Amino acid sequence: MMGKDSAVKETVICTEAQFVKGEENFRRYGSAYSWIPCQEEEENLARCIRDNKARIAILGTYRYRGQLYQALAESAGEGPALIARHGVGYDGVDLEFCKKNDIMVTITPGTLDQSVAEHTAALILSLVRDIPALDRSMREFRYAPVTTMELAGKTLGVAGFGKIGKQVATIASRGLAMKVIAFDSLTLEEQMSREGFGKEEFYGKYGLSEYYTDYFEFAESLDILTIHMPVMEGTLNFFDADRLSALKSSAYLINTGRGALIDEDALYNALKAEHLRAAALDVFRNEPYAPVSPAKDLRQLPNVILTPHVASNTVEANFRVQQNILQNIERFLQGRYEEMTRVV
Ligand code: GLV
Repeated sequence: MMGKDSAVKETVICTEAQFVKGEENFRRYGSAYSWIPCQEEEENLARCIRDNKARIAILGTYRYRGQLYQALAESAGEGPALIARHGVGYDGVDLEFCKKNDIMVTITPGTLDQSVAEHTAALILSLVRDIPALDRSMREFRYAPVTTMELAGKTLGVAGFGKIGKQVATIASRGLAMKVIAFDSLTLEEQMSREGFGKEEFYGKYGLSEYYTDYFEFAESLDILTIHMPVMEGTLNFFDADRLSALKSSAYLINTGRGALIDEDALYNALKAEHLRAAALDVFRNEPYAPVSPAKDLRQLPNVILTPHVASNTVEANFRVQQNILQNIERFLQGRYEEMTRVV
């Protein structure tokens, strides 16, 4: 016999990888809901939503093109449905489709900036001090010191000066004494007026030395480039062969933003030809990683460090993300739509 509670519980669908990160918190703080983990591929997820007549889905970063939205809209009937992204990027969600189908979309602003910035700092340090290679040599019973480079005084370019980029700038300038310069499509005036700061306060807050809206001017003097831009029209493959070649051949590149920002084949070519010194990547065009062109597999290059999209995956950030999601679900169910952290 079905328990009285389960008959009235709202069903929440959650993609499996996100459920693994959140099950404990979801069950503890969201005991009013019935939690159903489902595989993230669109066909499976759409089927799972229909089978459970669910109108709420928590999603990872997978890209959804159509069936998912139709399934959610069908289950929701006359009322709205909710997609809650487990994180801040929403390039995998088709916002136009959502608008047409009365699907609200929430993200979790401010929950993971520190974790992503810390992972970025870890990658910068690992790359510049050659930590993975040194560790490997020790395990191979070779005691092989390598002379590397100090970060203090070197120029770090932060491409994408949003919340995460700003956190990276703060850590690099205050913690590592680097010279930090920024690039963004927003003008400096727009940035300052958003924060209600004058130039001196704005530069001082993030330890900034220069601010650019022209990529090529920004790129030419960098020792290290770190990428924190969103994927949107105009930023897809932004770092193509031309823009990569604007960097010094001694420059390092870090990407903890999104794989689709970089032309991965062009990056492979630049690294292979040593037109770029080395790269550390947490995000990829295809996730789980598979090379865009089989002959240009980044795993074959010695001057690359790879991590499997984990920059935001800490206990602390996950907890904040999950609390934000639970709050959005509660507000959604209470019709308090204006209080949700929505992008649609
Ligand atoms: C992580 O990549 C996110 O989008 O939150």
